[in-house]
Amino acid sequence: MAHVSDLIATDINAYLKQHETKSLLRFITCGSVDDGKSTLIGRLLYDSKMIFEDQLAALEADSKKMGTQGQNIDFALLVDGLAAEREQGITIDVAYRFFSTDKRKFIVADTPGHEQYTRNMITGASTAGLAVILIDARRGVLTQTRRHSYLVSLIGIKHVILAINKMDLVNFSHEVFDRILGDYTAFASQLDITKIIPIPISALAGDNITERSGNTPWYHGPTLMGHLEDVEVAGASRAAPFRLPVQWVNRPNLDFRGFSGMVSSGTVHPGDLVKVMPSARQSRVARVLIDGDLPYATAGQSITVTLEDEIDCSRGDVICGAEQPCEVSDQFETTIVWMADTPMLPGRSYLMKVGTKTVTASITTLKHKVNVNTLEEMAARQLELNEIGLCNISLDQPVAFDSYTENRDTGGFILIDRLSNDTVAAGLIHFALRRAQNIHWQAVDLSRAARAAQKGQRACVLWFTGLSGAGKSTIANLVERRLFALGRHTTLLDGDNVRHGLNRDLGFTDTDRVENIRRVGEVARLMADSGLIVLVSFISPFRSERQLARDMLPKGEFLEVFIDTPLAEAEKRDVKGLYKKARRGEIKHFTGISSPYEAPEDAELRIDTNTLSAEDAAELIVAQLDARGLLRGAQP
Ligand code: ADX
Repeated sequence: MAHVSDLIATDINAYLKQHETKSLLRFITCGSVDDGKSTLIGRLLYDSKMIFEDQLAALEADSKKMGTQGQNIDFALLVDGLAAEREQGITIDVAYRFFSTDKRKFIVADTPGHEQYTRNMITGASTAGLAVILIDARRGVLTQTRRHSYLVSLIGIKHVILAINKMDLVNFSHEVFDRILGDYTAFASQLDITKIIPIPISALAGDNITERSGNTPWYHGPTLMGHLEDVEVAGASRAAPFRLPVQWVNRPNLDFRGFSGMVSSGTVHPGDLVKVMPSARQSRVARVLIDGDLPYATAGQSITVTLEDEIDCSRGDVICGAEQPCEVSDQFETTIVWMADTPMLPGRSYLMKVGTKTVTASITTLKHKVNVNTLEEMAARQLELNEIGLCNISLDQPVAFDSYTENRDTGGFILIDRLSNDTVAAGLIHFALRRAQNIHWQAVDLSRAARAAQKGQRACVLWFTGLSGAGKSTIANLVERRLFALGRHTTLLDGDNVRHGLNRDLGFTDTDRVENIRRVGEVARLMADSGLIVLVSFISPFRSERQLARDMLPKGEFLEVFIDTPLAEAEKRDVKGLYKKARRGEIKHFTGISSPYEAPEDAELRIDTNTLSAEDAAELIVAQLDARGLLRGAQP
């Protein structure tokens, strides 16, 4: 749908040309329906003639029928009608609306305003250059105004229009306007919002929307539409250092090797000296191409560049201006907005997509969460849906990055659940942690294979998982005795035992169990590195952490053994009397009763303890180890 301009009738080519070259402003509206958000958006669409004739007829009819605005049009019905449609398809939770005027094209992200929709607001705001924060003049600055402003500043939006709405209901009082503005400015001074333009409006009556209102003779600023048309928000990213996150390597034939992606900031010309990060290899740009060669390209353009030298550069790398390249690190301080129903657990490993690069990441420390209504910092062990926290994060390999304040593309990231593939968080990088830069890998001469071969075996981890009382420890113990008798070198890590020492500080909340398994995974790896056959016997109830432990070892050297005893059976045996206590409510978070157990889906071995005795199970497991060649030594 395009803006209806007189040019369309008189000179369609001129119109199209003009439309094409208009700049685009993306903005977000923050506020709730009560503040008049729907009415305002409806009004903007209407005033820019972005409503189809048939929609308009329906709107007029609906408005009369509902009678909310007498004989006048109720603009909210237009937007809310669209909103209802959208609510049915739950997948799209941010509605983007397009409109244009003679001067500019607009995309407005319309997101629900309630606290439980923080993630939608973040999604809507992530591409916006400006935010319209709506305030009901009768109610002034509210908790939700603070929340919206905090989120807007967090996402890096510097331009805010403070639309003080419903001025008609406070007699267009200059005093009310000034008081609200004073309250807001005092609050906003804690945030990083540099430009606040306050505008007294009535979305319903149209005051100061497109036409300056006669009702506010004391107001000398722009109209809402006027400011949206004129405000300059982009500028900075062209002047910023050049960044091209490489999306793909374009290699149609042996003579051409181009690197494609969207320029996220800066400008690039043929001949420019560039560095490919993180490797920091240097070269010069040979050609800049879209359809053909270009003299230069700037932020926002999707381009292909070729380099003068044959240097390594692949998807996920960032081609940077050589003078000011990205930084490189594998540990950061970040702010994370949690967007999933399952909570964020420190220690769990997630996929992290930063720029065009995907790596494995885990949150090492949750320093605090932020109360989005008061900006208060609060201690927390985990983040729930819509919560925001300051977190240290650690990656499995270094990546090229900028701080988010410098570049939203190379400084912003998402976290993805490794098992479900859902996006679970959005985050922004503040800075690299220094300690990461000062700790290096110390090379050691003896390899794991050499150490294992000396013992006449191959190192591996046998990971026993199952409910409490399933028989894990009993079977693991028998397996170890057999291996010992065969002259193998083993060690056994048992949940109850390790919890007496190394993990004495941990309890049984989800967060603690994640940390419990993370530590034991690391210890198992260290033990395997010394050439041992490591038996691990922990409930390890979460797939995600068992996967983490698996990923620490080479393929084929981690065997998951599921001791499959149904809950009813484990409870019937109740060797330690814990199930009885748990049923009486004396033990909180008890696995299988008040805490989940996620059974393995692809364990190397499943032991059904209803049909197999512990002795037989042990024999079967040792036979499996032998069959996999793990009991025979390889030459170092
Ligand atoms: S895990 O879930 O974090 O892997 P782990 O294997 O270390 O658990 O410890 C489990 C043992 O702790 C059980 O065998 C049981 O003896 C004891 N225990 C005490 N409280 C609980 C509880 N709430 N849930 C499960 N096991 C518990």
